[in-house]
Amino acid sequence: MRHLIDPTDLSVEEIQQLLELAIDIINNRQKYAHVCDGKKLATLFYEPSTRTRLSFTAAMMELGGNVLGFSDARTSSVSKGETVADTVRVVSSFADIIAMRHFKEGAPNVAAQFSRIPIINAGDGGHAHPTQTLTDLLSIMRELGHLDNLTVGLCGDLKYGRTVHSLIKAMKRYEGTRFVLISPDELRLPDYIKNILPSNFVEVSTLEEALPMLDVLYMTRVQQERFANQDDYERLKDSFILDAKKMTLAPEHMIVLHPLPRVNEINIDVDQDPRAAYFRQVENGKFVRMALIYTLLQKTQETAKQSKTLSATTHRCTNDRCITRTEPVSLLAYTDQEGIERCAYCDHCLKMN
Ligand code: NCD
Repeated sequence: MRHLIDPTDLSVEEIQQLLELAIDIINNRQKYAHVCDGKKLATLFYEPSTRTRLSFTAAMMELGGNVLGFSDARTSSVSKGETVADTVRVVSSFADIIAMRHFKEGAPNVAAQFSRIPIINAGDGGHAHPTQTLTDLLSIMRELGHLDNLTVGLCGDLKYGRTVHSLIKAMKRYEGTRFVLISPDELRLPDYIKNILPSNFVEVSTLEEALPMLDVLYMTRVQQERFANQDDYERLKDSFILDAKKMTLAPEHMIVLHPLPRVNEINIDVDQDPRAAYFRQVENGKFVRMALIYTLLQKTQETAKQSKTLSATTHRCTNDRCITRTEPVSLLAYTDQEGIERCAYCDHCLKMN
């Protein structure tokens, strides 16, 4: 059975197939209207969401399937102290596929260990968000026509922005990708992502410097809910604001993406610009999730491919947001290309133990 926990769980070829399937769905809606008749998607959302949950729900409904689940963990047995492992074992009896969003990093990995049905990570803490990445890739493909040789500016909260982490992991596999990083010092990429960046990346301190070089500008919100100290959030929240005046510095073909919700980082005067693709991006999210659900339900006989070699470790992860800190799961690690031992759930460095 195949899960989608991290974007690299899918090969570049498999991503291409998903994008092509999404485009076929867009062009032939009727053909797919009943392909998931009788199937059930469980949406287990332990953290707030509008777009992602509704988009999964709409996707399953448009495939002919049904949806059950919760959007507020306080109304489920989680509030009685149930573990992710137990919840998932139970839900495996009621549904055919699960989309899970959790505030703990690595929670979907735990779910995948105990589930009898495919797990889709719909966002885990500040870690990963692979279905947003599929949405982003489909948007770039539809807007610009290709995924190679692109200069992609990533702006805002690169530290806690899980959409950015997953987008980097996916885009770095395409020929000629170049990343331009635009963030306050305090909100730079975590080291496990920085270590895998292609060597041609650049860091700049203003949007004005970045804009003329970009094909794609990926704006993100400063992730208030991940800050330990709210004063830091207040200080950093308006570090980068895109407006119509700054857009005059951008190439004609550049597109602006944003996973949404936006807070303040894109002025509404940009919305009318044809290069503002963020509302078109939302719709792509539904189509690519249709492609994903349909595909994973067909791959139930396939064995999951493990991109990292995991081994048992005695080192406990020191990341407070990691699922291993709160749930009794086996401690697993892998060694990255720099020789650093990392937590298999949240990618945090274990060496500091
Ligand atoms: C993103 C998320 O949840 O990480 N939203 C989404 O899924 N569309 C981005 C965000 O919340 O800032």
